[in-house]
Amino acid sequence: MKNLTRRRFGKTLAGTAAAAFASASLPRIAFAQMATAELLRFPPNFVWGCSTAAYQIEGAVNEDGRKPSVWDTFSHTPGKTFQGDTGDVADDSYHLYKKDVKLLKNLGVRGYRFSIAWSRIFPDGTGQPNQKGLDYYQRVLDELLKNNIAPYITLFHWDLPQALPGGWQSRDTSKAFADYAGYVSKRLSDRVGHFFTINEFTCFTDLGYKTGKFAPGLKLPDAQVNQVRHHAVLAHGMAVQAIRANAKSGTQIGLAENATVYVPVIETHEQIAAARAATREGNAPFLTALMEGKYTDGYLQREGANAPKVEPGDMKIIGSPLDFVGLNVYTPEYVQADASPAGYVLEKRPASFPRMASDWLYIGPEVIYWAVRNVSEVWKPRALYITENGCSSDDVLAVDGHIEDTDRVMYLRNHLTHLHRAASEGYPIKGYFLWSLLDNFEWADGYSKRFGLHYVDYKTQVRTPKLSAEWYGDVISRNAVA
Ligand code: FCB
Repeated sequence: MKNLTRRRFGKTLAGTAAAAFASASLPRIAFAQMATAELLRFPPNFVWGCSTAAYQIEGAVNEDGRKPSVWDTFSHTPGKTFQGDTGDVADDSYHLYKKDVKLLKNLGVRGYRFSIAWSRIFPDGTGQPNQKGLDYYQRVLDELLKNNIAPYITLFHWDLPQALPGGWQSRDTSKAFADYAGYVSKRLSDRVGHFFTINEFTCFTDLGYKTGKFAPGLKLPDAQVNQVRHHAVLAHGMAVQAIRANAKSGTQIGLAENATVYVPVIETHEQIAAARAATREGNAPFLTALMEGKYTDGYLQREGANAPKVEPGDMKIIGSPLDFVGLNVYTPEYVQADASPAGYVLEKRPASFPRMASDWLYIGPEVIYWAVRNVSEVWKPRALYITENGCSSDDVLAVDGHIEDTDRVMYLRNHLTHLHRAASEGYPIKGYFLWSLLDNFEWADGYSKRFGLHYVDYKTQVRTPKLSAEWYGDVISRNAVA
């Protein structure tokens, strides 16, 4: 790393260790005493934030006219989630949202990314809007704006209204999504500057319709899965157009995508070029399609007769220009150049490769630098946000009430150090939203995996800041990572 000499690294470690020994009662760590010269500063106006999603935190699934989403149905189906956990109550943020805004305020964030439950606004997916559902989000916005926290809204974070016939197998769902997106943006864009259409395509297309691990739990053949994927990117493009037509002018539109991030094993021109080629081809059904308005030849050839059926005009809609790209960044894929026509080959991870508490969450902090760099170099987006990054850890609430999640601090510190590199090299990275503000319903893993900066006691709904919350607050207050 260019900015991190051996000497500087040694000093920072020593400072951190000394401070940790001094810990007794809050504030326990003398962060502010660290020499300013040691800090890696972020650009002025960098947006520090946190992320959550509706079904993971809200609860209140039957309140004020909300109807079920596919995740209600799926989580209530025996054997689908860890110990049959559901989002029925989750963090009860539907009622406790003021407490959660207070947590954000205490951290000092400038932005909060949260999602809207489609079936609160259109309980059947289409038809008459439900004013009471919208009122809830208006109350959340009131609270955020009162506290000078900018709202960043995701319109779809996997909780598809159950009532939509055929779900994402139907092309009508794309149109229904655009109508919902247009309606919400028309009603909220006076107070919301940034909208994300869709969160992470693979997780509700491939995991929902191919492997069946996520809602709605289907295992369809490839041709049908590709059609589901096509309807999803089409929904995104149609929603971009609907938001532009309905929202206040100047509203910023993007998405939050977990594009596969390819890290060159060695930082040479040849390996970096291989990572770029992999970025395009490995994300062909999703990010590549919407950044380029076409499916790559490689994808169409690989899928052959199973390729999606595309109607005239679809690709232009899918490629509707965006104001920014949001990237959810967790785990790296390592890539090497080779002599194949693709020009690259993926590395197998050794069994010893380190992971966090979730079995899929391999630790490779440079992933965040390459996420920004690859996407910037391949597609030159106007702006980028990290819309999710964070980790699960086996948090223990100690008898003294502290949660010493030193592994999460390690994970975050290292990722932010690599993100700093991307910012200092001039890539247009505008903000970072940490996943997550608080422990929550982690999909098929239920409540067994904790990703929060705040520990949630699900019996009492008490939220307790972890060590990582204190650490992140310090990063934000100094706009720098040490
Ligand atoms: C992402 C999801 C988010 C959360 C994190 C851990 O894939 O978008 O809802 O589950 O992973």
